[in-house]
Amino acid sequence: MTNTSAFMDWHIRGAIFDLDGVLVDTASYHYRAWKRLAEELGFPFSEQDNEQLKGVSRMRSLELLLETGGMAERVSRTEKDALAARKNAWYVEMLEGMTPGEILPGALECLRGFRAVGIRTSLGSASRNAGRILERLGLTAMLDAVVDGNDVEQVKPAPDVFLLAAKRIGIAPSACVVFEDAQAGLEAACAGGMRAVAVGTSESLSGYDAKVAGLFEIQPAEWI
Ligand code: BG6
Ligand code: MG
Repeated sequence: MTNTSAFMDWHIRGAIFDLDGVLVDTASYHYRAWKRLAEELGFPFSEQDNEQLKGVSRMRSLELLLETGGMAERVSRTEKDALAARKNAWYVEMLEGMTPGEILPGALECLRGFRAVGIRTSLGSASRNAGRILERLGLTAMLDAVVDGNDVEQVKPAPDVFLLAAKRIGIAPSACVVFEDAQAGLEAACAGGMRAVAVGTSESLSGYDAKVAGLFEIQPAEWI
């Protein structure tokens, strides 16, 4: 998006951020863990295959992965639970090594900047590991509210996670903007009646109001 002055016309009072791939560089960890699982199960898993897993819950991600490998019908619920737990253990192991250097460019400035101009901020993530990641990177106190996969039953593309975030910061959905790197998240924002800004360089995203390569392109002062 080049015409940033258009943001002012959106009359935004709440900014809701996805976590993985928007604030922090964990999307690549998720991919590595899913790829490892697929290879153990005996099929390849490409970055392109991984796109559809972004933003959706751990169990739904597993189901999509099993579909990719043509195994969806052959795995029982108990086996699925075990496979999801295995993937999560690898993922959590990678998180233990995370440093603040993995906060994505512009994320801190964006969080601080929105608050400085009176726009309230919340996390809106499908992850059940979100609290752990925010704590580890010192991001918890930079948000006015945190909503994640532990708080809602229906995750993205359902709007629930974003609607709860809007409620917790006390801002009407129509005055909220969502920053998202996943198609499921953009759909969730739209379903919730919020403005959606796609974050990243993926060509496959659609259904957004604006697109930026990263939060470093966002200038909160231009939003009020
Ligand atoms: C989303 C990620 O933020 O969280 C997905 O984009 C992930 O890739 C989902 O599957 C659930 O994360 P977790 O940490 O609960 O397994
Ligand atoms: Mg994401």
